[in-house]
Amino acid sequence: MIDPDSFAVRPAVAADAATLVAQTEALAAFHGKPGAATVTAADVLRDGFGPHPLIWFWLAEERATGRAVGYIQLCQGYAAWLGRPTLVVNNLFVDESVRGAGLGRRLMAAAAGFARGRGIERMELHVVDWNPARQFYEAMGFQVMKDYRCRIERAALDRLAAGTQA
Ligand SMILES: CC(C)(COP(=O)(O)OP(=O)(O)OC[C@H]1O[C@@H](n2cnc3c(N)ncnc32)[C@H](O)[C@@H]1OP(=O)(O)O)[C@@H](O)C(=O)NCCC(=O)NCCS
Repeated sequence: MIDPDSFAVRPAVAADAATLVAQTEALAAFHGKPGAATVTAADVLRDGFGPHPLIWFWLAEERATGRAVGYIQLCQGYAAWLGRPTLVVNNLFVDESVRGAGLGRRLMAAAAGFARGRGIERMELHVVDWNPARQFYEAMGFQVMKDYRCRIERAALDRLAAGTQA
């Protein structure tokens, strides 16, 4: 039986950069793509802990050892119709050994508190359809939408920017 009190959830600091990278690598492995996360500690420091952060993190860790067991990464979005910023949950991960102990909920609650503190009224995220985390998000109060996600990556983005057809 896992004792939830033996874990803390706290905002990450710059000294956590390597740990945050390791959490992202663990999430990539969960998605069946070990080694696919190329983010570095320098990236995390630049975008998370510079003068104008683009991303925010909270860490879950074992109090006794300081071992990281989960994290959440957030970034800002924007609701054009509302004319208000939104908060996007980019990544959420809890180590398999401690799932079911409420850490995912605590990380999401930290994110929600951060959102409300900034006057943000909507949080959003994407979850793939095979992932049981869909039920987790529903338990958090999220409504799973049926719309489609679209993405454009580097080569096609360059072509689009150059005004040529893909
Ligand atoms: C999704 C994840 C973060 C949940 O973390 P967790 O610490 O196990 O979740 P919690 O213990 O806080 O659970 C909170 C609630 O969600 C429910 N829940 C959690 N996982 C669930 C699942 N797989 N199916 C159904 N319900 C689930 C719990 O029953 C609990 O409900 P309750 O509070 O009403 O009792 C964790 O399973 C995980 O890291 N999964 C792998 C990575 C991943 O899928 N990340 C999301 C990518 S979009």
